Amino acid sequence: MKEAHLTRCQVETPPDIVRLVWSLVSKQRPGQVFNSVLDLGAGDGRFSHVDGAYREYTGVERDVAKVSQAKLPPGAQLVVADALQWKGSDYEICVGNPPYIRHHGLETVWRDSALESIRTAGGPALKKTANAFIIFLTQALMRTKDDGVVAQVVPYEWVTRPSASELRAFIEGKGWNVYVYRFDSNIFPTVLTTASITIIDKRSSDGDWKFGVINRSGSIKLANHASGTRSKVLSYSDGSDTCKAIRGLSPGGQELFVLTEEERLFHSLKRGRDVRPCVTSLRSVSQDMELLDKDSFERIFVRTGSRCWLIRSDEEKLSPELTRYLSGINEPAWARYSTCTARKIWWRYRAHPAPALLVASGFTQKRPKVLVNEVGAVAVGSVYGVLIDETLNLARMMFDKLRDYDFHRRLVHHSNGLKKIEVRQLNAVLADLLPA
Ligand SMILES: C[S@@+](CC[C@H](N)C(=O)[O-])C[C@H]1O[C@@H](n2cnc3c(N)ncnc32)[C@H](O)[C@@H]1O
Repeated sequence: MKEAHLTRCQVETPPDIVRLVWSLVSKQRPGQVFNSVLDLGAGDGRFSHVDGAYREYTGVERDVAKVSQAKLPPGAQLVVADALQWKGSDYEICVGNPPYIRHHGLETVWRDSALESIRTAGGPALKKTANAFIIFLTQALMRTKDDGVVAQVVPYEWVTRPSASELRAFIEGKGWNVYVYRFDSNIFPTVLTTASITIIDKRSSDGDWKFGVINRSGSIKLANHASGTRSKVLSYSDGSDTCKAIRGLSPGGQELFVLTEEERLFHSLKRGRDVRPCVTSLRSVSQDMELLDKDSFERIFVRTGSRCWLIRSDEEKLSPELTRYLSGINEPAWARYSTCTARKIWWRYRAHPAPALLVASGFTQKRPKVLVNEVGAVAVGSVYGVLIDETLNLARMMFDKLRDYDFHRRLVHHSNGLKKIEVRQLNAVLADLLPA
């Protein structure tokens, strides 16, 4: 893993959550004293601090500094090693809180060898886009006994993410029982995902998955589906030529590519020729607003000093004013963005169409904000665009249907009340709503 990500992933589990994990384990295996416990990515070995639950605990941790500071109870040891190189097996239980690192943060060589070693040990062929915690969770399953148990603090997202689908299919294929309890509050304030305690019991073969919401004192409310309600979580799909949701443009540094009205005037950039309208967030738009036309764009975005003008550096020919603006940006300012450094000409982004509808990717109410995009704004950042075949005249009808759709019940809720819809989930909704 890349070194910068190692420090960032070192989020420690609060002691009360460690105790909560062990108390759920003891419900799963009443009265059992485990002969052997494994903890992958063990940090300072805090999961070893529990009375009478085990005879031997082995924590595997990559960071020497963490290990050397640790104070361990009798029966516990920490080993400095890579958790995915660890060949010890037949542990009765694997507990812990593995690192959360997106696949972009993983070293290719490390990731490829981890995936290969899991596969050759008889595990699932995980995707290269799997997050580190998915790889660790799978390794936990590979290193435990056939009737062992895995109890981990992991992001709740693994129950729905396409990048974990092979792991879910593997568990389903084995028929193991799974209990996923999503926290109702933010137990890791610095981390933006919702945490869960996930228990996979390899002893069972009924393939029963239970979902629930848990609070810090351990009380659990069970739900029927991963969404936490009685409706199924939205599936994922690709868009069609008729109707397709696309992610907002990431030009590479909004402060460089998206200007306020004042900045536009300062650099003498002309509307239409040098900049075009864009929307980077729908936060300031009211929930019932329907139409984004010239007037409302001026009122809500231009006159409030929002970043709302996308420079047209996607064009072949640039005006002298825009050329001057771009050459005034020094290298350290744009070289911070890998999107810019990866391009032949740092500022030439690929043109993005103005969508028929604009949809917020995050929301707190029943559904995301949706606007009919009459002003022709480009969707940027966290705003999605919905492209609709113009010849079919479907924009208004799709808008009405999206406004009536109950997203709330079909999405995983995050602890801060925010719900997020993935672009491929929006595509599944659109496919559902399109007239046959
Ligand atoms: C989220 S922290 C949790 C630490 C500890 N288990 C706890 O609950 O407080 C994940 C830990 O995994 C360690 N780690 C990351 N990659 C690792 C690897 N390849 N092998 C072993 N440990 C690793 C990090 O150094 C970090 O201490």
